[in-house]
Amino acid sequence: KKVVLTCAQPTGKLHLGNYIGAVRQWVKMQEDYECYFGIVDMHAITMPYVPAELRKNTYMCAAQYLACGLDPDKCSMFIQSNVRGHAELTWILACLCPIGQLERMTQFKDKARKLSEGAGGASIGSGLLFYPVLMAADILIYNADLVPVGEDQKQHMELARDLAQKFNNTYSPTFNLPEAYIPKTGARIMSLQNPDAKMSKSDKNALGSLYMIDTPDVLRKKIMSAVTDSGSEVKFAEEKSGISNLISIMSSVTDKSVSDIESEFAGKQYGAFKKAVADAVIAKFDPIRIKYEELMTDKAYLESVLKRGAAAAQRRADKMMSKVYRKAGYVDAI
Ligand code: TYM
Repeated sequence: KKVVLTCAQPTGKLHLGNYIGAVRQWVKMQEDYECYFGIVDMHAITMPYVPAELRKNTYMCAAQYLACGLDPDKCSMFIQSNVRGHAELTWILACLCPIGQLERMTQFKDKARKLSEGAGGASIGSGLLFYPVLMAADILIYNADLVPVGEDQKQHMELARDLAQKFNNTYSPTFNLPEAYIPKTGARIMSLQNPDAKMSKSDKNALGSLYMIDTPDVLRKKIMSAVTDSGSEVKFAEEKSGISNLISIMSSVTDKSVSDIESEFAGKQYGAFKKAVADAVIAKFDPIRIKYEELMTDKAYLESVLKRGAAAAQRRADKMMSKVYRKAGYVDAI
């Protein structure tokens, strides 16, 4: 069986971009592959944060993944900091990684800019620079074949492949070159209020992002007020970024093709289309929200799932790490 690994930051509420670009794929992939899904709390501390919130968000994320259909009998869901080796492999890879390559990463530049422009000009921790190396370690420590991600992780994936190759060349062939698996539609869901920027939790406009655990009223309100163009045709086109984004959303939550949606809504008004999108998103998310609320009342169950996931992940990580340490020339005297 091929090995699939992917991770997401514990942001608390997952948005529709996380669902379409990521979780939806994971739920399908657990049927056919050996899957590891990580909640990356070590990445989460590369930006200023509040420990109590991180703790709560980690539980929230786990509950949302389970509510979406991740099945502990079919995949291993774990918390990154619970598995030894992620930080250790990061160090070895960091020693192979040119600083310049990290400084050129677009997400690093964006986040660093935000920090220095933010209140009081917060300083930039070196962890932020090492973020993509830690991500490469997440992938390589499981010797993953496939990594399902959204479009925004492409550059990080390239670095992971580069570092795998570099390790193989410097020491000896050890790691597979992991492939990014990016969905054809929905790999980049945009903000509803600014369809030229990706949907993200840090969107300042609260109406821009749809959250999986938003109530139906809130989802409807956000979709009905989504920004569109002054035209009237429901058609996927570059200059119609708002409508195109809604079509991608509709296509992803209903599994209908873009062209089927275009013909279904030919000659109909934007209002009618938005209403249909709202109905489809609510039909998808409402059962997830209800299940999520139920799971959040049972912390002991969540912990048991995460414990089991971490044990399985640890077994695989240990195998890789002993190889890596041996090849690096470390003496094991214990
Ligand atoms: P994160 O937590 O930002 O996002 C989790 C997943 O959701 C995808 N995604 C989107 N897809 C479509 N449209 C959007 N608007 C959108 N926003 C987010 C992301 O591409 C991602 O697949 N660095 C990663 C976490 C990570 C990781 C890894 C991923 C750490 N280690 C190892 C894969 C493998 C991140 O911040 O994702």
